[in-house]
Amino acid sequence: MPKTSPLNRRQWFKSSAAALAGLAIAPRLPAASEPAAKPTGPVRLALNENPFGPSAAAVAAMRERAADVCRYPMADGRDLVALLADKEGVKPDQIVLGAGSGEILEACGQLLGGPGGEVVCAKPTYGQLTAAMARRGSTLVEVPLNERKEHDLAAMAAAVTAKTQCVYVCNPNNPTGTVVDAGQLREFVRAAAATAPVVVDEAYLECSDDFAGRTLAGLVAEGHDVIVLRTFSKIHALAGQRIGYGIASPGMAAKLGPYVIGGPNLLALVGARANLEDVAYIDRTRREIKAGRNALIAVLNELGCDYAVPHGNFVFFHSGVPIADFRPRMLAEGVHVGRPFPPFLDWCRISIGTPGEMAAAHAALRVVLG
Ligand SMILES: Cc1ncc(COP(=O)(O)O)c(C=O)c1O
Repeated sequence: MPKTSPLNRRQWFKSSAAALAGLAIAPRLPAASEPAAKPTGPVRLALNENPFGPSAAAVAAMRERAADVCRYPMADGRDLVALLADKEGVKPDQIVLGAGSGEILEACGQLLGGPGGEVVCAKPTYGQLTAAMARRGSTLVEVPLNERKEHDLAAMAAAVTAKTQCVYVCNPNNPTGTVVDAGQLREFVRAAAATAPVVVDEAYLECSDDFAGRTLAGLVAEGHDVIVLRTFSKIHALAGQRIGYGIASPGMAAKLGPYVIGGPNLLALVGARANLEDVAYIDRTRREIKAGRNALIAVLNELGCDYAVPHGNFVFFHSGVPIADFRPRMLAEGVHVGRPFPPFLDWCRISIGTPGEMAAAHAALRVVLG
């Protein structure tokens, strides 16, 4: 077997690093004056990804640490937890990191679910926690959204009983993008948490205009039985890195810990930290997403389509065409859109992409619905 010389190893490392550098994560947020890039393949507007990408500082930080991936990431995990605890106004033992907030939702389901009990949630909403609880034997109590496609808090409150093991609130809601009035939501969650833990999924809240006024992380700090979830997959554009976290009481965090069996990898921790610190970039991404939402709404208005008021990086609208037909017709025009969300089977969820991707989406909508 030929020996690898140090020079070859160095060359190999340089070319691997170059490949990594070129591979994926170059930030794609265009300068305001930059013309919209024309997409080449089908445009991915189906999974609520953030194609603007993480900040240049986050990409540089991950590149810089690429050769450290031979080491376990505990110290970087502790550093990020300290930073997040400070940001959220809680103690480090109240932060639970996961390989995406999806892993924390799974952990909540494992911990809280079981036969004989119920999970109260909206319909439709994001299904990962409720699916995990159903696998453990819990029964789903699905409460229809109100006419604005927001959580119906009065009906949800009425559904909370002694059997309730957990209440799930997704704010903004996926797939509708709607938020609930902040004061009413706070009141509902405080009351429900006296009966059972309330999981408040804020995956998209940082895409909205009023994160500070709407986040319920303060309820955790006040000592209510509330678990608030955040992800780095949306505004931070690190979906491929798999990192998110939960904020909970020290007791709940300790109980969730053993169910988190993956956790974030080193580069996820490094990228998350650097992106979090690049506040100007995040603000700019938020503005780009909002501009994308507004431009899409203008097209929907032109086409006469009703829509739910969006606060995330996606819009849920009434195409009037069964989604089973609408999806392939949009794909034929080069645009992937979201899956069916019963009972709204002639509605469609479309994620916000770059200006170029959105131009393709607008054109496809005009062809399919015009
Ligand atoms: C509402 C909501 N919560 C949680 C998640 C999970 O995201 P991740 O596991 O990438 O953090 C998603 C993913 O789309 C989502 O829409």
